Amino acid sequence: MNYRHGFHAGNFADILKHVVLMRILAHLGVKDTPYRIVDTHAGAGRYDLGSEEALRTHEWRDGVARLDQSPLAPAVEELLKPWREAVAAARERHGSDAYPGSPWLCRHAMRAEDRLIAAELHPQTYKKLTAALGRDSRCKALAIDGWNALRGNVPPKERRGLILIDPPFEEKDEFATLAAETIAAHRKWPTGIYALWYPVKDRRAAADLLGAIEDAGIGRLLRLEIDVDRPEAAGGLGATGLLVVNPPWRLADEARILLPALSERLAQGPRPRYLCEPIRPDG
Ligand SMILES: C[S@@+](CC[C@H](N)C(=O)[O-])C[C@H]1O[C@@H](n2cnc3c(N)ncnc32)[C@H](O)[C@@H]1O
Repeated sequence: MNYRHGFHAGNFADILKHVVLMRILAHLGVKDTPYRIVDTHAGAGRYDLGSEEALRTHEWRDGVARLDQSPLAPAVEELLKPWREAVAAARERHGSDAYPGSPWLCRHAMRAEDRLIAAELHPQTYKKLTAALGRDSRCKALAIDGWNALRGNVPPKERRGLILIDPPFEEKDEFATLAAETIAAHRKWPTGIYALWYPVKDRRAAADLLGAIEDAGIGRLLRLEIDVDRPEAAGGLGATGLLVVNPPWRLADEARILLPALSERLAQGPRPRYLCEPIRPDG
């Protein structure tokens, strides 16, 4: 467990994940009935972009800082609103270097009856997570393995909600684990929304993940990817994806507006690309 998200907070991959997360929560919030979020690999909850970790990599400069430069087209900004408002709230509360991670964003979006379970195994990071969530009785931080948190919390009693799975991809078999655990959870709760984050370093690994999920008969999927055309010499991550199981019905249309604009704004080379692929939308 060497991964520290503080090195990567606010980078282009976080932007895709967090913007889509906030879109999903906006859709879940349309109905009055409460929802539950299970964030299996929650991280610290909030990051300081002025910290030593963040300043060592400066990944946020090609991420959140690009979005701070100027507004995008009005239709894009309309969809970015929930994420922008949450970032502004984090900055107002914790200073201009604050960047909200997934649990903080969830907490910001949730209503009085909605609930969050956030699992984080790394002891120091867990400590930060509990501090970031404060004494909010709607949120529960667990210092347990994220896969156990997933197994133990589906289906949630609300029968509505989101499972966010954002593992560190330190282990070689993490793609296979992600597929197997998602398939097992989906058997127990087929109607839940699942958002699976993955790095695109090896296109085959991403294709195998999708193949395994499809072969398991999981019907409605939305595959979202952005590739910022990072020069190979620069190393590091150049493309990232989110696979959404049971996406809210307007999410694909929204992604078709968001992803071209985000990939262009976050580009590190002349040929950024994006992918927005609904799979068996009526499955
Ligand atoms: C990519 S980061 C999470 C970022 C966070 N979801 C966000 O968007 O702000 C992955 C986190 O998983 C934690 N982690 C690693 N192995 C874990 C496990 N088996 N169970 C739960 N958390 C784990 C790491 O310590 C790290 O904080």
